[in-house]
Amino acid sequence: MKGIKVEQVNGEYQVTNDLEKPTPGPNQLLVKPIFGAVNPVDELMRNSGILITGWPWTPCCDVAGVVVEIGSEVTEFKVGDRVFGCQGVGFPGSGGAAEYCLFKEDITLHKPDQISFAEAATIGVGCQTAALGLWSGLNIALPDPQNLPAISDEWVLVLGGGGSVGGYAVQLSKLSGYKVIASVSARSVKAAVAQGADETVDYKTPIDEQVAKIKEITKGKLHRIIDTTASNADFTKKVLEEIKDDAGEKYFASVNDWQDFGPLPGGAKFYPISLGPLGRPEAKQLDEILAKYIDVLQVLIDTGKVKPGEYNLVGEIGFESFTEAVKVQSGGSAKKVVVQFQEE
Ligand SMILES: NC(=O)c1ccc[n+]([C@@H]2O[C@H](COP(=O)([O-])OP(=O)(O)OC[C@H]3O[C@@H](n4cnc5c(N)ncnc54)[C@H](OP(=O)(O)O)[C@@H]3O)[C@@H](O)[C@H]2O)c1
Repeated sequence: MKGIKVEQVNGEYQVTNDLEKPTPGPNQLLVKPIFGAVNPVDELMRNSGILITGWPWTPCCDVAGVVVEIGSEVTEFKVGDRVFGCQGVGFPGSGGAAEYCLFKEDITLHKPDQISFAEAATIGVGCQTAALGLWSGLNIALPDPQNLPAISDEWVLVLGGGGSVGGYAVQLSKLSGYKVIASVSARSVKAAVAQGADETVDYKTPIDEQVAKIKEITKGKLHRIIDTTASNADFTKKVLEEIKDDAGEKYFASVNDWQDFGPLPGGAKFYPISLGPLGRPEAKQLDEILAKYIDVLQVLIDTGKVKPGEYNLVGEIGFESFTEAVKVQSGGSAKKVVVQFQEE
């Protein structure tokens, strides 16, 4: 089948016709990707080989497409269903930049009619990562999507609240009953506020000023910090140092799941967010947790309570546009970068 392959660590993205068409296992769906989004992990994987279990490797782990075949035990999906989500990374058949890829039934979302394929492709990685960070990492109760909690006086500090993971962390914090202070640069203030942030702090201003502003705004009601930038552990430690004597357990979740931060001020509990293994046979526990979260996310997305962010569509229809899209993403696009691979 046609698609993109990378043959070795640091190899080029090549459009090819010789990819092996995957066959769905009992609980899998074979999906024709229509749109795909680029994530920072695509380049990270290509440059380092991390999470790749076999070469050649096909990138793209945020897909919206159409089910063309179902495994023998699939009950919730049928051929022709429009689906989306993060389907997995690095294992054979997982690559979304191809004519077909595999999804696992329990971690797949149905695409509602009111969002387009392009919008749907922007949601999976960001939203699923944020869900793990908040609901598994920050001791935030999974909300009942039909009966959302009222906003309490407790705050969540979202570092990178204008980005993809950060934007969903803002949205899901609010829907879970928390106020949000987002750390962003000037260019991302509008995005963070559009996602629901109550307050913002500019990460480019002096750190002591930022910490003082956070303390002043949250007034002893900050116990939860999520870093969606992978680069803010030192800043978090400074904030935790400031709030360590406030009553109550503190929690810190980070997309940086590879670094040992050591003991945190005030004994804050650390949760390393790790979406990468999803969809693999060895990730049964992670998939079970995500399946529970996806049931909630599906309702929140269907009812318009979780909204896709803005996107930047790059290139013409075709796998050829993926390389250009990666360059745009790596160059620091403020919006999620998407590509249309095929017609529906
Ligand atoms: N561990 C996991 O399972 C997992 C899963 C998904 C993603 N990730 C990682 O999470 C990170 C974010 O991914 P993404 O898709 O959300 O990327 P993104 O959409 O590009 O967002 C990154 C955001 O970080 C902000 N930022 C950069 N430095 C900052 C700082 N010092 N303080 C506050 N904000 C800062 C940027 O804001 P400005 O534009 O305002 O500068 C940007 O909005 C990436 O490193 C990705 O690899 C990890």
